[in-house]
Amino acid sequence: MARRLHVAEAFEAPENEEAELFGWVRNKRVHGGLVFLELRDSTGTIQVTVKRGFAEEDSFKEALDVTRESSVVITGIIKKDPRAPGGTEIHCRSFKVIGKSIAEFPIKPGASVKFLLDNRHLHLRSPKVTAVMKIRSLLTGLIHEWFRKNGFTEIHCPTFITAAVEGGATLFKVDYFGRNVYLTQSVQFYQEAAIFGLEKVYTIQPSFRAELSRTRRHLTEFWHVEAEMANATLEDMMAVVERLVGDTVKALAESAGPYLKILGKSINPSVAEPPYPRIKYAEALEILRRKGFNIEWGQDFGADEERELSKEFNKPFFVTHYPKEAKAFYHMPDPSDPRVTLSADLLAPGGYGEIVGGGQRIHDYELLVQRIKEAGLNPSDYEWYLDLRKYGSIPHSGFGLGLERMLWWLLGMVHIRSVTLFPRTPARVYP
Ligand code: 4AD
Ligand code: MG
Repeated sequence: MARRLHVAEAFEAPENEEAELFGWVRNKRVHGGLVFLELRDSTGTIQVTVKRGFAEEDSFKEALDVTRESSVVITGIIKKDPRAPGGTEIHCRSFKVIGKSIAEFPIKPGASVKFLLDNRHLHLRSPKVTAVMKIRSLLTGLIHEWFRKNGFTEIHCPTFITAAVEGGATLFKVDYFGRNVYLTQSVQFYQEAAIFGLEKVYTIQPSFRAELSRTRRHLTEFWHVEAEMANATLEDMMAVVERLVGDTVKALAESAGPYLKILGKSINPSVAEPPYPRIKYAEALEILRRKGFNIEWGQDFGADEERELSKEFNKPFFVTHYPKEAKAFYHMPDPSDPRVTLSADLLAPGGYGEIVGGGQRIHDYELLVQRIKEAGLNPSDYEWYLDLRKYGSIPHSGFGLGLERMLWWLLGMVHIRSVTLFPRTPARVYP
């Protein structure tokens, strides 16, 4: 009886073992009485040779006629052959088509980026896209593990919300039985409510931003890793971010080797080794002005500024103490300089820019009311959020990390959409 193997297992199996494999035909070449196939499954691609005389006659005919991307089940003998890619191939005895590709598979070498995105549902089969998704899954798992090991409770928050977290300009409006509600930009406020029972919480779920900016780092829907901690200062929050990013990048570098190889990439395990440099907004502003940027004090940094600033560093670095005007109303003013906030962004080096945003929250009721008003917002829209400051309020801090931003940086991708299964950008909600 042939053993049912995955492609990766076939590479490891002893020579002359009989195996059954299931997969898709990635490519076919015919040389007289010999059909060469590339058989692909979720674990890799292996060469299969179907030789007239060795294979059953029906099987040979089926292999000769098989179309690209048909699904098949084969049995054959594992052979070591230095001429085969990876040094192993399968000499096929029986070959059976399960699902025939009934039209020519549209994805071909040299296809344009637009074509590949329009056909993302088919392009997902490519070994490269598969490798990116494996790495994404690994990283997500490592992040979950890290939080759980460090005493955080995972919570699940709603996606429909009634008032802005990160400013009204990027809210997606939704008709909720005749009432206007929005898609969440961040679950931060719900996490702030949850820390009164759970102290340290984290969430990994989608956030939405109606950002028309057509940059290489913006999605309209992204996966947001957020955490909130009771009795924690800005310093505490930065220490957590540093360990989270440092530990998960190191573990990813150690575990993603085979997938990185498919992508022709590598991750240096020390690329995110703590400690990370820290500069204040005011210093960052000086660096940017020296580089020729004309920015007023108080302005937030955009994609261009962050790109140039992050070229100055070879490790992730914190920019802290952003001015009040540059940050959302909930950020705690710095008691020693109320023009700035106890905030910190983590920027990835080499031109990538912001991957984490966070800081210490205002925990004083009156101050929060005042900041909501100063931001031109209505305190009555934030009643439950203000309640949290009425009953045993406590200093607390938290942050949000863009999962795709982190992968985009680590994999050195041109565009952030390459690390998503089905990207959502201003121009793309299909497929
Ligand atoms: O800096 P942001 O807007 O911070 C917040 O939403 C806080 N409420 C988070 C918190 O403290 N709990 O967003 C956090 C991170 C950014 O640093 C970035 O990595 C990512 O979310 N992000 C985006 N990623 C992809 N596309 C977009 N349009 C993004 N907007 C933010
Ligand atoms: Mg931010």
